[in-house]
Amino acid sequence: MAAARRSDRLVLQLVTDIMHFELSVLDGTDDRLPVLRPDLRTVTKRCRLGMRIARPAMERLGIAFDGPDTAHALESARHMCAAVRNDMAKGEHLTLRRSIQPVSLVHDEYLFIRVLQSYEATFAAVAVNLASTIQALSLGMGARAIHALASAEKSFRDTSLLFSMVATMQPVAFLKFREYTDGASAIQSQNYKIVESLCRTPELSRIESPAYLSVPSVRGRVLAGQRTVDDAVASSTDQLTVSVGESLHSAMQQFEKSVLRWRKTHHRVASRMLGHRRGTGHTEGIPYLANTRAIPIFGRCPALALLSA
Ligand code: HEM
Repeated sequence: MAAARRSDRLVLQLVTDIMHFELSVLDGTDDRLPVLRPDLRTVTKRCRLGMRIARPAMERLGIAFDGPDTAHALESARHMCAAVRNDMAKGEHLTLRRSIQPVSLVHDEYLFIRVLQSYEATFAAVAVNLASTIQALSLGMGARAIHALASAEKSFRDTSLLFSMVATMQPVAFLKFREYTDGASAIQSQNYKIVESLCRTPELSRIESPAYLSVPSVRGRVLAGQRTVDDAVASSTDQLTVSVGESLHSAMQQFEKSVLRWRKTHHRVASRMLGHRRGTGHTEGIPYLANTRAIPIFGRCPALALLSA
């Protein structure tokens, strides 16, 4: 719960910071990243999407917002940014300022960095919930495991609008700033691989591929025999009642669905931005993503399938 709340707060701050940057550039009060600035329509779309992410998070976190409604999107976004920024502690402002280090002068790099950071925060919260799922199952606490897995699923589902924001990037802008990012790729995201490897142990071919060679500490944990949700489910199904077994099975299916949807959207957005170019993580790019899209999230536990049959 604490992890989900912290991640919620961080994502809210990162997303409103995107809007704040867009609005400040529009108002002429921020002159950073002057290359390939977006038009007013795109800025408005970004703000609308940002507000759709921010509004429910503000409600969950109890941050009051009584600005005008979305008919006046930019005005509304200004009020929302002010509300979030006023709520932030000094240290949070400092963290936000220090955590933006673009490598180019291209405007859209700001958005890209903040979205990547938002996903990292989300993956971290998902990983905590998956670890809780494993622990709860090991203790025979089926209901708690289902709750943790459902929270992990919700975090994944809630991020879909972040991809809509990234999709507003101009491909020409993306291609411009990626000239300076060779060797730096989200394939190096530790939290994403922690999430993946906590669900089930990856195949050896994947452990020996750039996917895991790019994240040595996660790879080490996998090779050391890290316990997974799959393991925990397999060893606890005979202790679960039929109804808990069914609910667990359905929570796993929901989680799987949300992750597969994330991969599909990632693949689509990446294809639009990248075309036939290779990835910055030294993979062949889109063909790599097409292959990884199909990797199962969980193994098939025969005992669980039997329970819910
Ligand atoms: C919109 C532009 C994007 C493009 C063109 C893109 C492209 C790629 C490519 C080509 C790879 C394969 C590794 C490589 O060679 O770099 C990759 C991997 C990955 N990307 Fe993206 N990506 C984009 C956005 C994002 C975003 C916003 C996230 C959010 C965190 C993300 C997360 C990942 C992850 C976790 C992997 C590793 C997947 C795996 O190894 O199975 N990407 N991406």
